[in-house]
Amino acid sequence: MSKSLQAIRGMNDILPEQTPLWRHFEGTVARLLDNYSYKQIRMPIVEFTELFKRSIGEVTDIVEKEMYTFDDRNGDSLTLRPEGTAACVRAVLEHGITGGGQVQKLWYIGPMFRHERPQKGRYRQFHQIGLEVFNLDGPDIDAELIVLTWRLWGELGIRDAVKLELNSLGTSESRGRYREALVAFLSTHLDKLDEDSQRRLKTNPLRVLDTKNADTQAILADAPKMADYLDDESRLHFEGLKARLDAVGIPYVINPKLVRGLDYYSKTVFEWVTDKLGAQGTVCAGGRYDGLVEQMGGKPTPGVGFAMGIERLVLMLETLEQIPEEISRQVDVYLCAFGEAAELAGLALAERVRDQLPNLRLQVNAGAGSFKSQFKKADKSGALYALILGDDEMAQQVVGFKPLRGQGEQQSIAWDALAAHLATCIVQG
Ligand code: HAM
Repeated sequence: MSKSLQAIRGMNDILPEQTPLWRHFEGTVARLLDNYSYKQIRMPIVEFTELFKRSIGEVTDIVEKEMYTFDDRNGDSLTLRPEGTAACVRAVLEHGITGGGQVQKLWYIGPMFRHERPQKGRYRQFHQIGLEVFNLDGPDIDAELIVLTWRLWGELGIRDAVKLELNSLGTSESRGRYREALVAFLSTHLDKLDEDSQRRLKTNPLRVLDTKNADTQAILADAPKMADYLDDESRLHFEGLKARLDAVGIPYVINPKLVRGLDYYSKTVFEWVTDKLGAQGTVCAGGRYDGLVEQMGGKPTPGVGFAMGIERLVLMLETLEQIPEEISRQVDVYLCAFGEAAELAGLALAERVRDQLPNLRLQVNAGAGSFKSQFKKADKSGALYALILGDDEMAQQVVGFKPLRGQGEQQSIAWDALAAHLATCIVQG
């Protein structure tokens, strides 16, 4: 197939055999967020380029080299959203729903776009579920965000495989003082820094802290520590968060070098990481951004949130084999009808059963086929039972009820009794 007729590198189709696990994941998150009373918001996937430049920061990898930016037919510069926070802040401001200190606990789901080098767990179109909370400034809400992800990992069966890393970046004032100290220290080692760090030193010095270069990391061992520059307010906030995590029993490690790749953070930052996915091990990340709303033209409004990468979490479920039995089986019952009259009766019967058992996954064979080929299809569907409607069954107004997974002999069930019979069988598994 010619290249222009293939999917774009790093942008994936999610195939029918993959979607059940995606839906399991998305459904589990949505239910949990309902329970914690978060409300869903849906933003467009395209925004003015300026929005992302202003919020994420001009001197970040995302804005400098990863955005899908284009001029539309009006000549406006637009960008496919690389993340959700900027658009969510834009939306709440535009609709005034955080005005007057109104608390908003929001979540969103959808595709994000970054022109990164594709590899396992890193794509150019990927999907996030994100949460953003406005107008709550205490550590209790930071803790709630972490506690609910901890519960999610438990429900998904991956809790033992993820680790929480925490840091506090302080207020912008304390971060400014730390930045000065760091620049002064690194300037005395300028000739030993790698090229990228030399550049970052001038543009975004805190990002030097998360360099992958081992020599630069060795130099950083003696660098001033961010924790020593924290103002009292940030220190108390961080202590408050840790106390709450301790109270719930959530383990964490303090990573003083955790700075995050987006510029809008202040105070708390955190990442959930795993060693099960290779190089792309961050499955969920976020933090507090108390200055962002104001920076975007709103009134001072505290904010905090995070986003998780759906591809990475689905990969984890596969790697750890945490795939519930009911999603590997898509069909409960498969109805095989032989002959035109049986097909019509089968259709009507199937609809009657669906009226009574709305959660039953009932597949009706489409089109004709020999007895043998229909059974093959029934078996391949993964169904627990086949229903058979042939001439004999039609004459007696019954269906043949055939267990497909070694659960006993075939029996005849009257049409009127079918739904009740299925209800007991399926519940009993
Ligand atoms: P982020 O760290 O850039 O933060 O992305 C959050 C998560 O999205 C990552 O931890 C990862 O799981 C996933 N992710 C990021 N890039 C890719 C990629 N190229 N391929 C696959 N998955 C990826 C944010 O986006 C912030 N908006 C999070 C936030 C919300 N902070 C506060 N509120």
